[in-house]
Amino acid sequence: MLPIKWDIPFPAPEKPEFTFIDLFAGIGGFRIPMQELGGNCVFSSEFNYHAQRAYELNFGEVPFGDITKINTDIVPKHDILCAGFPCQPFSISGKMKGFEDTRGTLIYHVFEIIEKHQPKVVFLENVKHLVYHDKKKTLATIIQHLEELGYTVSKKVLNASDFGLPQNRERIIIIGHKDKKFDFSNIKKKSKPALKKFLDKENDFEYLNEPYTILEEQKKQDSGLVFAGYRNKTIRKAGVREGTEHLSRVHKQPNRIYSTEGVHPALPSQESSGRFWIWHEGTVRKLTIQECYRIMGFPNKFKLLNNKAELYKQIGNSVAIPMIKAVAEEIKSQLLSVNK
Ligand SMILES: C[S@@+](CC[C@H](N)C(=O)[O-])C[C@H]1O[C@@H](n2cnc3c(N)ncnc32)[C@H](O)[C@@H]1O
Repeated sequence: MLPIKWDIPFPAPEKPEFTFIDLFAGIGGFRIPMQELGGNCVFSSEFNYHAQRAYELNFGEVPFGDITKINTDIVPKHDILCAGFPCQPFSISGKMKGFEDTRGTLIYHVFEIIEKHQPKVVFLENVKHLVYHDKKKTLATIIQHLEELGYTVSKKVLNASDFGLPQNRERIIIIGHKDKKFDFSNIKKKSKPALKKFLDKENDFEYLNEPYTILEEQKKQDSGLVFAGYRNKTIRKAGVREGTEHLSRVHKQPNRIYSTEGVHPALPSQESSGRFWIWHEGTVRKLTIQECYRIMGFPNKFKLLNNKAELYKQIGNSVAIPMIKAVAEEIKSQLLSVNK
């Protein structure tokens, strides 16, 4: 269980410039870019057995388990607290007792660590839906509690497709700092690439072997997605207007087929919820696991465990690495003094 430095793909930087902690660490989607920028990870927490194994294989360290059972005293002091926390719904109790309002939720334990260790920067990530959850009250509560803990907070929804990845994956980023407001407008973006450039040349491809329809006219949407067609699944006829049958079919996400001339929809964390079909060079197939890791920006040297369902779940839960890196670069230059 000890880190064997010469045997792991992602060792700690030799000359660390700052420290960070990796909460709800998953498979280390935050850790890879933070280390690349000179960050030394001084603590990690993740309670899923398979994610812990993947983390150990790649970083030589088994994360601490359940965050709700961790005594904040064992967490070392750190410059940046990173957390891609699970979107666990909660409502404001209305008692306005500071962040204790959120007791019983996972974010409460993040607030506890912040209160105890006062990191210079808090770097949070979540699904876009958090913006609208509970009539926007959930996000407002999180921001309010960070402010009560002494932080100036900025937030923005970013899309992985603006960071060189062919994936329409929108996530909210929340940044807190003791005195400065983080400026998202400085973050460098790139144009949206096409999925076809990220595909395997050879692999054990899973082709669609049931009837499907490919549209003659395929239009690129603003998101960069190109809807190519749909599986000819039987549909409920009742209530469906004549000529609009295909719209009912495509209403179900797993029936949709997207062209590799555009970007891919956000990878979900459950294979059962449907991996999307792609239309590529005259065939319809699913993305391979390797392609899924590539379109999240994981380097080729990232070691994959031998369990397809887990691999799929882990990558769907993770973060778009170049997007996290672009934000972290700006955190480093705007909010940490290491570059000055
Ligand atoms: C949205 S994922 C974050 C993934 C991570 N950012 C990555 O790059 O892979 C949330 C993670 O939190 C973990 N988690 C949920 N509840 C937890 C708890 N009580 N203690 C520790 N980890 C927990 C889940 O197992 C899951 O891997």
